[in-house]
Amino acid sequence: MKPVKIGIIGLGTVGGGTVNVLKRNAEEIARRAGRQIVIARASAKDLSKQRICDTTGIELTTDPYDIINDPEIEIVCELIGGAGAVKDMVLAAIAKHKHVVTANKSLIALHGNEIFAEASKQGVIVAFEAAVAGGIPIIKAIREGLSGNHIEWLAGIINGTGNFILTEMRDKGRDFYDVLKEAQALGYAEADPTFDVEGIDAGHKLTILASIAFGIPLQFDKVYTEGITKITREDVEYAEELGFRIKHLGIARQTAKGIELRVHPTLIPERRLIANVDGVKNAVLVYGDAVGPTLYYGAGAGAEPTASAVVADIIDVVRALTSDPENRVPHLAFQADALHNVPVLPPEQFKTAYYLRLNAEDKPGVLADVTRILAQHHISIDSIIQLKPLDDCALVPVILLTQITLEQEMNAAIAEIEALSTVNGKINRIRLETLG
Ligand code: HSE
Repeated sequence: MKPVKIGIIGLGTVGGGTVNVLKRNAEEIARRAGRQIVIARASAKDLSKQRICDTTGIELTTDPYDIINDPEIEIVCELIGGAGAVKDMVLAAIAKHKHVVTANKSLIALHGNEIFAEASKQGVIVAFEAAVAGGIPIIKAIREGLSGNHIEWLAGIINGTGNFILTEMRDKGRDFYDVLKEAQALGYAEADPTFDVEGIDAGHKLTILASIAFGIPLQFDKVYTEGITKITREDVEYAEELGFRIKHLGIARQTAKGIELRVHPTLIPERRLIANVDGVKNAVLVYGDAVGPTLYYGAGAGAEPTASAVVADIIDVVRALTSDPENRVPHLAFQADALHNVPVLPPEQFKTAYYLRLNAEDKPGVLADVTRILAQHHISIDSIIQLKPLDDCALVPVILLTQITLEQEMNAAIAEIEALSTVNGKINRIRLETLG
């Protein structure tokens, strides 16, 4: 059969890795796809820049539209990231009846509904495995491998930079910003690192996972995001003493009232496998009613791990080139006309357990006041620890672990406790999930 010609927009970390994998494994890839895959053209902003890949035999251009408008190219790989001009490029490629492979999580999370609708109209595929958890085939696992299940919840470490920072803080006692700088130098961090540390990147990925798990439209604007900048070394150490690890999790859960979509630092029992996923690695735990818990682990960022997912998508598209569009796996796992508008819950409606750290005066009745306020808000305490006084200070740190409660009750209780004259400053609150 005639080789399939593809074009690659972007020759940075992911684009360069994709060229390398496609070239190195060309023979095996052709045996899998049933056709040879040829990189006919590639574009980059600056062609004089040093690359991680060998571009011999590829026609290079600075204009992505040279690729999009080339009638010979059947698959366009968008590997530049971002959601501005890139959206127009992807829509232009679709309008030209080209299949698209992308690693762009923000593009899919923010504009996926529109992009998939256009793709369906044109009968083309938009594949995005590399958009979530780098090299872990989590989209395929949920969309196809678990398609017989009712997915109850999923929880994932889906930002490698954040996990790297928390791991280094815990293992080496390193400072937050010092580790962030290293993650940037290693090429893990987003162009704007606040996306990593404030949970926005994880929010994009969670949006995608929730849609394919629950059959709902993509709705990034409804994801609650909280970053890791307020986590202190003390919290990490106290959590360890209590048998927990702090991980920055993306959690999507179906409840009777609606869906919880939330990204925040979370205490999880250290005995859980996912609690031991360290460094830049990602992991996603998915709970299906039939299968129970399943865990997917691997590299969530980096040139070749991400290329692994991009190339798998290219192979999938090549295999599907001759199939009728209506017989293909739906973009969001569920048929487009069968997505449900289940409400996404506001944070006040979340139900979770909590770790609370407060600094209180060391005198009779202080803890009684705190526990009375919690009881008035129907919050049950699991454990309470009073630590040694802080240096040169009459205050003692108190750690409380609560049972599952409604977030709005916890918000009200925290406000009342913070108003006590015997409690100093703000309470540090971290949500706790047993992931059982
Ligand atoms: N900045 C992202 C991360 C890259 O650290 O996980 C992969 O999406």
